[in-house]
This record gives sequence, C-alpha cells and structure tokens, in this order.
Amino acid sequence: MPAANARSATPDGPPDGLPFPEGFLWGASTAAHQIEGNNVNSDWWQLEHSGDGTIAEPSLDAADSYHRWPQDMDLLAQLGFTDYRFSIEWARIEPAPGHFSRAELAHYRRMVDGALERGLRPMVTLHHFTLPRWFADRGGWTAEGAIDLWERYVRATAPVIGTGVRHVCTINEPNMIALADAIRRLGANPDDNQEPSATPLPDKATTDALIQAHHRARAAIHSLSADIEVGWSIANQVYQPLPGAESATAAHSHPREDVFIEAARDDDWIGVQSYTRTRIDKDGRPVPAPPEAERTLTGWEFYPQALGHALRHTADIVGAVPLIVTENGIATADDTRRIAYTTGALQEVTAALEDGLDVRGYLHWSALDNYEWGSYKPTFGLIAIDHDTFERTPRPSAAWLGGLARTGVLPRA
Ligand code: BGC
Repeated sequence: MPAANARSATPDGPPDGLPFPEGFLWGASTAAHQIEGNNVNSDWWQLEHSGDGTIAEPSLDAADSYHRWPQDMDLLAQLGFTDYRFSIEWARIEPAPGHFSRAELAHYRRMVDGALERGLRPMVTLHHFTLPRWFADRGGWTAEGAIDLWERYVRATAPVIGTGVRHVCTINEPNMIALADAIRRLGANPDDNQEPSATPLPDKATTDALIQAHHRARAAIHSLSADIEVGWSIANQVYQPLPGAESATAAHSHPREDVFIEAARDDDWIGVQSYTRTRIDKDGRPVPAPPEAERTLTGWEFYPQALGHALRHTADIVGAVPLIVTENGIATADDTRRIAYTTGALQEVTAALEDGLDVRGYLHWSALDNYEWGSYKPTFGLIAIDHDTFERTPRPSAAWLGGLARTGVLPRA
C-alpha cells in the first residue's frame, strides 16, 4: 500500500523542486469500454461490428480489465499513485430498460472497495462515451424521456458510489459526444452542414440535453450523499488565435467548448482534459500544425504547453470552481517522449498553481494501453499490454510518474 503523499524536503529548506499541494490527486485514468473487453451490450460494440467501414478494428477482449482490475490496481498502488479514475458501464448495469443487474453493481462496488483497500482513491465516471444499445436505439440523448432514464440509472448506481467515493464525474467530454452526434447526423444529411469550412458544430439539441443530464445527475448524486464532489470533464481543444483571429477564435470556441465549461459553474470541481492545441484563423477555421512539428501516434502536434492554456481558459470561465486534470497524455511508441511530454505538462500545472489557480490533481491518460475508439495502435499507456497474453508491463514513465506522486515534487529542469 502506498504511503500518502510524503513531501521531500531538503534538510533545512523548502523542497528541491516545484512542490504540489498536500492531498494533490496523483493518478491515472481509464474508461470501461477501452479496457474491460466484451462490452457486448453497448452501442460501440454494435458499431464495431456493423461493417460500416469507420472502425479499423473491434475492441473484443480489450485489456480484459473486467477480470484483471485487481492486478491493474495493484500495479498503480505499487507504483506510487494515490488516485485512480475509472468508469462504470451503463450497458452492463442496465442491460435492458429498467432492469438493473445486482451482479454488475456488486462488481463495480468490489472495484471501489478494491481501490480503497489498496490506498487508491477512486474517481468514478458514470458515462464515458458508451451507451446501452437500447438507449441508443431509442434515439440517444435527445429522445423523449432520455434525461429521466439517465437519472434513473444515476440513482441506481448508489450502491457503487454512495460511500467511499469522493469524486464522481457524471459525463466524460460532453462536447465530443455532441460533436459525434453532429457528425452522425451530417453523415445522414450532408446538406445540413452550416459550417462546411470548419469542423462541424456540436449538435445543439445534444448539447442542451447533456447539460440538463449533468445538472440532474449532480442533484441526484448530492441527494445520495453530500460528501460526494460532482463534476464533469471537458475536452479542451486549446484554441489559439492566429494574429487578428481573436474574435473568430472566441466564436469558434463557445459552442464547441465554453458552453460546457459554463455549465460547471455550480459544480464541486471541473475536469480539464488536454492533449494538444488547435490554431484558428480569421475565418474561424482550424489550421494544421506545420509539417516540421513533432506529431504523436494520433497525428496530434506534440505540445505539452496545451495543459497550461486549458487550465487558464477553464479557470477564466468557471472562476473559483476547483480544477482537476482528469486526462492528459500522449500516444507514442517512445516512452522517453511520454516522460518529456508529461514533464512539460506538469511544469504547466506548477506554473498555474504559482499563479493561484486552484488545481487539485493530475490524472494521466492512460493507466494502460487501451482501445483508442477504433484502433489499438495509439498507445497511451503508462503500462503496456500484451493483447495475446494480457500481460501488464509498466513502462519507465509509470515508475517515473509514480515516483513524483510519492514525493509530490517536480524536480527543477
Ligand atoms: C477520451 C479518451 C481517449 C483520449 C485520447 C479523450 O478524448 O476521453 O477516451 O482515449 O481522449 O484520445
């Protein structure tokens, strides 16, 4: 079991490096569909086997974490982490409308207890992209009665989250969910695209529904226990204006990101998720990174400074709401680049702390190599997975980041 964050200080002075606050959340994140395997009752499984040509490979067994979560948690705790963010799977918990599986609720409760027994504080996400097939088939978030059904599910998770869980994330990246809905609808009706020159706007009806769903979930969870701190996690695209593109960038950002951040103004915390930046020109169009830019396995520009921008942008909108980095990481085959990237990102966190931002934690994406929504090729894991044997092998970056978690100090560069 790891000791709680112990400060490393020089014998007669402050710590030799950039210190993080006491109680800072040092963790790693995962999502059920991406690691559990055989999530057969979900809309994503259905998509993976629909033959529609958009999916390179199906998730199948993933990392078999549905069975191997004790090993994953053992590793994270031994490495020095204090927090673990994982999601619970609505498609398993409510396989048919109104039928809640006691066995699956007990499964996820064992995970919560298993984390606590190992000294890992669980952060539980209630919805990370995957829906029960029946919910998707009846029209998803914008169908009549969808928010009531969602609230019923949230209330049904009480045995999992009701005790021992401090942080609950209602919905992961609602802005990406609303964007995916827009892309799906435009695929069916291309003439409806009002912004052919830019990335599509998130679907407005889905945006409104998700904000309502989040607020309903927050109230429902607070009625379960006043001790649970509720938030949601936004995909921060780090929109940066090219010269003269300030107002075009603000207009681009609002429906794609800011409206979701604004909806967190009364939350207990907000999750900041950042990977790279997106530069915007005067016409409000994203501009690709220059050809000489270093790119990661997802094709994104290597730009760890994005996290500082994301934290400050979020704080500008939410004011005093505490910030938690719930995802940040890099898909790479070269683990030294993962350490370099994460060092840069953590320097941004310390700079934000020094400027008075209330940053409460850093949870790296991801604990394990996982199913990256259509492909296993982009490897984000601190821990490598052999997909034939399911053997777990922590990479040097895992020991390095777990070591920082133990000391709570980022050595000066
Ligand atoms: C998502 C994760 C995903 C990661 C890297 C985030 O958008 O929450 O599920 O794997 O980014 O693409």
